[in-house]
Amino acid sequence: MNDRPGRVLPGRTVSKSLETEMTAAFIRTAASLILLGAIAMPIVASAQGADAERVKRGEYIFRAADCYSCHTDTKNNGQPLAGGAAIKTPFGTFYPPNITPDTEFGIGLWSDQDFLRALRDGIAPDGSHYYPAFPYTSFTGMTNQDILDLKAYIFTLPAVSAEAPQHELPFYLRWRSVIGAWKMLNFKPGPMTPDPAKDAVWNRGRYLVEAIAHCGECHSPRTATGAIDRAKEMSGNPSGPDGKGIPNITPDPTGIGDWSESDLAFALKLGVMPDGDTFGSFMADVVEQGTAYLTDDDRTAIARYIRSLPPVRTEKEDKPKD
Ligand code: HEC
Ligand code: HEC
Repeated sequence: MNDRPGRVLPGRTVSKSLETEMTAAFIRTAASLILLGAIAMPIVASAQGADAERVKRGEYIFRAADCYSCHTDTKNNGQPLAGGAAIKTPFGTFYPPNITPDTEFGIGLWSDQDFLRALRDGIAPDGSHYYPAFPYTSFTGMTNQDILDLKAYIFTLPAVSAEAPQHELPFYLRWRSVIGAWKMLNFKPGPMTPDPAKDAVWNRGRYLVEAIAHCGECHSPRTATGAIDRAKEMSGNPSGPDGKGIPNITPDPTGIGDWSESDLAFALKLGVMPDGDTFGSFMADVVEQGTAYLTDDDRTAIARYIRSLPPVRTEKEDKPKD
């Protein structure tokens, strides 16, 4: 059975992206230049250079967003991006699908538009809604360029022909139309705009934290309907993924008030906290698959933004030890 909404049937008339059209036009032009015996080589070389640049930028976003950890079943030695381990939530169990470029079980037949719509709007190629267990609620803030660079990178990875399991959900959540109502209440799509009152480092930090690295998807408490509780942003979540408690990372003494900016930047690089303890649980993956690969400047930007959040007081006992 393959009734996942992201399935694109072969031969579907995809509206080709402008880019595909341009590439096709370029290839036609290049081909005729070669036929004419003109020196087409330098043009071709620079086009490859531009693609390689995109893929490199896409890989960086891929790391910062840690698409890998959810979509790979690392505990069972699953292939990269071929489908992730079960995510248990109060609303049911979700299995992140195969997002390799496989044309049957992955996203190999997706157009640029399909990919943009999934990350920006949480909408599948068949028009149905994605569950917010896929954090498009954060990714929606990304720029078009970052989203499309990300796709360019993912499409260079090996295709894996394997089907991810179906979600296990209570009956009332099996209809994806229910998510439409949830989105009307809780979701505002669109790229993030910089705050002109703040400097470039802070704005970069906010973009990384809120749109890409989605720290708040784990670290913020949720409302009764499962939306991020913005008033208590980053103040921890007593029932995070798999029912684990996630610590408060606001600059309150009950959070990480005693960490300096460089303590936090360092922890995101090596996974070591100021008390010498190392991150465990999901946070170990966030660092190993994600923030460890970022530039020092980007880790500093993340730290500066997190340190600028309003402190929120919480009970201290949420801290899990695995
Ligand atoms: C917190 C875990 C998590 C993270 C992080 C995550 N995803 Fe997912 N993703 C999911 C889940 C769960 C679904 C299934 C949603 C559904 O069925 O409605 C999904 C679905 C998708 C789909 C739709 C695939 C299909 O066949 O319909 C795409 C594309 C996707 N994710 C790409 C990404 C990319 C790119 C990233 C990194 C920027 C990413 N995901 C990060 C959990 C995650
Ligand atoms: C997939 C869920 C998840 C995401 C995403 C996530 N974290 Fe965490 N984080 C955790 C968990 C779980 C812990 C507790 C780790 C432990 O017990 O060792 C934690 C711990 C921390 C701590 C230590 C707090 C303390 O007092 O011990 C900091 C700081 C932190 N995270 C910052 C971040 C930042 C910054 C981001 C975004 C770049 C982020 N986290 C994204 C799950 C997550």
